[in-house]
Amino acid sequence: MERIERMRIALIGAHGQLGTDLLKVFPEATPLSHQDIEITNPNSIERALEPIKPDLVINTAAYNLVDKAESDPSPALAVNAIGPGLLAEWCHRNKAAIVHYSTDYVFGLDAERTEPYTETDAPGPNSMYGISKLAGEYAVAARCPQHLIIRTCGLYGIAATRTKGNFVTTMLRLGKEHDELRIVSDQTCTPTFTADLAVSTKSLIDNAMNTNKDWGLYHITNQGQMSWANFAAEIFQRAKIDVDIVAITTAEFGAAAGRPPFSVLDTSRFEQVTGTQLPPWEDALDRYLQLLETSLGDDSTSV
Ligand SMILES: NC(=O)c1ccc[n+]([C@@H]2O[C@H](COP(=O)([O-])OP(=O)(O)OC[C@H]3O[C@@H](n4cnc5c(N)ncnc54)[C@H](OP(=O)(O)O)[C@@H]3O)[C@@H](O)[C@H]2O)c1
Repeated sequence: MERIERMRIALIGAHGQLGTDLLKVFPEATPLSHQDIEITNPNSIERALEPIKPDLVINTAAYNLVDKAESDPSPALAVNAIGPGLLAEWCHRNKAAIVHYSTDYVFGLDAERTEPYTETDAPGPNSMYGISKLAGEYAVAARCPQHLIIRTCGLYGIAATRTKGNFVTTMLRLGKEHDELRIVSDQTCTPTFTADLAVSTKSLIDNAMNTNKDWGLYHITNQGQMSWANFAAEIFQRAKIDVDIVAITTAEFGAAAGRPPFSVLDTSRFEQVTGTQLPPWEDALDRYLQLLETSLGDDSTSV
């Protein structure tokens, strides 16, 4: 433990959903917003990181506009693949370790899959976004051996109330505006609370930095699995919002980008290495809704 407490940490994407919760878990970290660093620009990386001289860089910056990336993939490839590669290269050159986040969308081509994916399963994205994130994983792994790459899924965090929102906040808003909502029911995954992901990231970093082993690729999500239609029903039930859900297919929804039909991640490597497990999704959703309520008062469901 001693080593990690003395570490200098740079946290990139500090104003995002995950970055906001990571800063609570790593209060000693230097937070870097998009105004402080542009990860696609090597000069900006040098200017931002050199004064901090970090032992560890945590990168949560990403281009997450999944559908837009289909018609215009360049920004996704720049932020999700080239930028993380540049950061990893800087880290290796400056003897720092890197933590980087990826996604369940690196899977998607296997339409028959029903078993959770492990880290050794071959990826196969069915979207440009997924391709860009997979390229980012390869770039980080190739350029900095001291890396932790964490694949996760469907993030929701408190910072979404002041940024672009997430599935939960979107459902709370739409549920109040409509009597009926059409929601996709043929994609199965595990939405994850950023507060839980932040705590689990710390366990993984503590272990890797203190032992200098167990670097590499990890899957981390809350426990359980569901479709987006099921998840929406649970949100509405807990928030006491009366809305009819019409379950539709991915094809009926007609988004520009493909989505994995099944992308539940097997988290056993993380559990074995850290001896910890994330809470079930029900518990995570309850805590998140409670947090929204306390941070926004009685009007919490209008976010
Ligand atoms: N959100 C999900 O459902 C989900 C699911 C699976 C995996 N992930 C992964 O988890 C990680 C964290 O996601 P999140 O939901 O916390 O993302 P987020 O809320 O969108 O936060 C990302 C942050 O990165 C900043 N950023 C964007 N482009 C940048 C650039 N070129 N240089 C520097 N900073 C930049 C953004 O700032 P601006 O907004 O000011 O540009 C934003 O504050 C990402 O790697 C993401 O791909 C997310």
